[in-house]
Amino acid sequence: MCGIVGYIGSREAYPIIITGLKRQEYRGYDSTGVALINHGLKVFKKKGKVAELEESLLGKNLSASIGIGHTRWATHGEPSDRNAHPHQSASGKLAMIHNGIIENYNQLKQELLNKGYKFNSDTDTEVLLNFIEEIQKNNQCGLEEALRIALKRVTGAYVILLLDEDNPDTIIAARKGSPLVIGIGKDEHFLGSDATPMLEYTKEVVYVNDYEIAIVKADELILKNLGNERQTPYITKLDMELAAIEKSGYEHFMLKEIFEQPGTIYDCLRGRLDATAGTITMSGVQNNIETLKNADRIIIVACGTSWHAGLIAEYIIEELCRIPVEVEYASEFRYRNPIIKKGDVIIAISQSGETADTLVAIEKAKEQGAIIFGIVNVVGSSIARASHAGAYTHAGPEIGVASTKAFTAQLAVLTMIALKVAKEKGSISPERYAKLLFELEDIPEKAEALLKNVEELKIIAEKYKGSADALYLGRGYNFPVALEGALKLKEVSYIHAEGYPAAEMKHGPIALVDEKLPVIFIATKDDYHSKIVSNVQEIKARKGKVIAIISDGDETITAMADDVFTVPPADEIVAPMLSVIPLQLLSYYIGVAKGCDVDKPRNLAKSVTVE
Ligand code: AGP
Repeated sequence: MCGIVGYIGSREAYPIIITGLKRQEYRGYDSTGVALINHGLKVFKKKGKVAELEESLLGKNLSASIGIGHTRWATHGEPSDRNAHPHQSASGKLAMIHNGIIENYNQLKQELLNKGYKFNSDTDTEVLLNFIEEIQKNNQCGLEEALRIALKRVTGAYVILLLDEDNPDTIIAARKGSPLVIGIGKDEHFLGSDATPMLEYTKEVVYVNDYEIAIVKADELILKNLGNERQTPYITKLDMELAAIEKSGYEHFMLKEIFEQPGTIYDCLRGRLDATAGTITMSGVQNNIETLKNADRIIIVACGTSWHAGLIAEYIIEELCRIPVEVEYASEFRYRNPIIKKGDVIIAISQSGETADTLVAIEKAKEQGAIIFGIVNVVGSSIARASHAGAYTHAGPEIGVASTKAFTAQLAVLTMIALKVAKEKGSISPERYAKLLFELEDIPEKAEALLKNVEELKIIAEKYKGSADALYLGRGYNFPVALEGALKLKEVSYIHAEGYPAAEMKHGPIALVDEKLPVIFIATKDDYHSKIVSNVQEIKARKGKVIAIISDGDETITAMADDVFTVPPADEIVAPMLSVIPLQLLSYYIGVAKGCDVDKPRNLAKSVTVE
């Protein structure tokens, strides 16, 4: 899940590439590098973040109108200068950057070793590059032809960008599995893993499809398939502004995105939900309403935070629509040989729309006749394009690696889908339906209200920042919220944390409880409240430190807990969109207090484009 950037045109390529890499850095930040052609090929690369490379290149002649750049999330070969991209071929004439994994690289490497090749790095990328050059030499053919031949021998996922010293007016790119966007300018082209490197230059982009090769010149873009047949580039107009990918005065993207939630949830509901009229307008759902409401079962596939959203959707859909739901880790579902019947409905949830595990899982299900309904945040992304129908979450670009606003937007979309299907099915009373529409409509305002009291969370964070472990507990709809809270803390503070159904605690985890263990309860008012009160007592009986997220006016738990944070009362079905926000903030403040890079946590990347 690396970030790639390319530019060819009349402007200086280096500043465009470096700025683009900084915007792509949420995709990986183990090492970075650029290659430029100006009277020969120049490659600069080093371990560490883009700013460190930039620093190291001050004063160098970096003038060029063609270049490529890469920021890495290590798969093959540890983070180091020699494993950083771009890699150069044995002849030194070709430079290549790559996002993805070449699964059969060992076999290709052996073939090249037998031919006397030496390798400077441990990467699959350098192997593929030399494999391409070897074909070029053997077949006496051009780079494009050699690439086409090579890719027919490759298994795995890739976006590659190639520079050729002998063809300084062309960038050659290819895609399979990993994302590639090409921005169309006047006599210039921009390339990126997403549109962020090109936003201020053009709003016209082409999303390159799997098995396509792009031959990019300043004034020409040619797309071909591996059969060497020309493909028509399909131009999409971007609806994203530069401001959306800047921090707007916040210290971190994560904090900005947490505070954006009243607006992003509102944007997600806007034009879809009208509680006064009692309507939910979602064309993707309406066009497939018969399939959805008559589904024998619904299978939700996702990863990480999106999987937690899927768990909450299981509760909502089963309660409102009375349709059985199974929630699957996409990576397990993909290889478990699941029983899929023709017409089964698969809901794929993904913020980035590029998560390889989820993408390959839905491709597998599609092969067996399932209907794929995608819930995605990034417009034009692979999962969106691979789905039969779907709904965008409209949360705007999410840059912080720890997903926050995308999660609450996913919950808003899933709740609207469940309500719409339940109404069509008649599995919900008109009174409950009407009440829930107003409950949903009130969420943005309630989120706004709770974000006014964050100072309390800073104090709680300061108190527990030194903890080695933490336990998150919730019941019913709040159980998946507990899982999400634990994931956020792990991701941005590196504190070991586990989420559990509160009742399950007695069957083991309670052994962990002592005066040093913070136990975070998501205990907003719902049908389980009296039960969760007993669970709090069980923890207090063992001197555990209780931090409780409670509904305004909950005196019972306030009296028992060490620390509380109140959220406005809401129906249990929509309450997770509120109760998760203090958990996002708690992990953020603890991460910052510990000096962690909360936007780019170690070992993580925003979209996991390799299996
Ligand atoms: C969440 O904070 C993480 N970034 C990660 O678990 C993420 O949710 C997961 O990789 C799924 O990503 P997606 O929603 O883009 O598919």
